[in-house]
Amino acid sequence: MSWKTLDDMDLSGKVVLTRVDINVPVQDGRVTDDTRITRILPTIRDILAKGGKPVLIAHFDRPKGKIVPEMSLKVTLPALEAALGQPISFAAEDFGTAIAAMEPGEVLLLENIRFFPGEEKNDPGFAAELAALGDIYCNDAFSAAHRAHASTEGLAHLLPACAGRLMEAELRALEAALGAPERPVVAVVGGAKVSTKLAVLENLVGK
Ligand code: 3PG
Repeated sequence: MSWKTLDDMDLSGKVVLTRVDINVPVQDGRVTDDTRITRILPTIRDILAKGGKPVLIAHFDRPKGKIVPEMSLKVTLPALEAALGQPISFAAEDFGTAIAAMEPGEVLLLENIRFFPGEEKNDPGFAAELAALGDIYCNDAFSAAHRAHASTEGLAHLLPACAGRLMEAELRALEAALGAPERPVVAVVGGAKVSTKLAVLENLVGK
């Protein structure tokens, strides 16, 4: 195993830029399925327990580098707070000031990172701006990890990096299934966007 987990990091007093995938279904301004939200709770709780300050970075829908008010991540806040059982702060802009004001035990959610054109372009300057906001990078966005964007890939090169608990569980499951699986082996593959799964299927066929 060549990747680090939260257990390998000293998080005490550190700002942990935590990439999560809370691109959840929303109807009439309410989250209709909070599965992705509940799956990131162990990571948030472990960062807090280790004295770190979790700053959640995420995308919502596909605003294509522009501010689209109806794609604000703020819509996920009530569901996040209900799942975590504590208030969560939200920064619509001026992320640096919001992070500097964080108290121990506080969780902060940043506005849709795809409002910034540098995100999907994996722009090195934008990744450096993000890196300057924190001390440690934790990637818990397994379901967005097929995208090489500034917050999913670029950042990992700029800060001490580790996998969050969800990412860790998924990577361990993948290693167990693809490394030396007991044969015969069957893959059951799901996902709404088949076009983005084709490369995965091609890879699986060889195994
Ligand atoms: C998803 O919902 O599949 C992930 O959040 C990735 O979203 P994207 O397909 O818009 O990159």
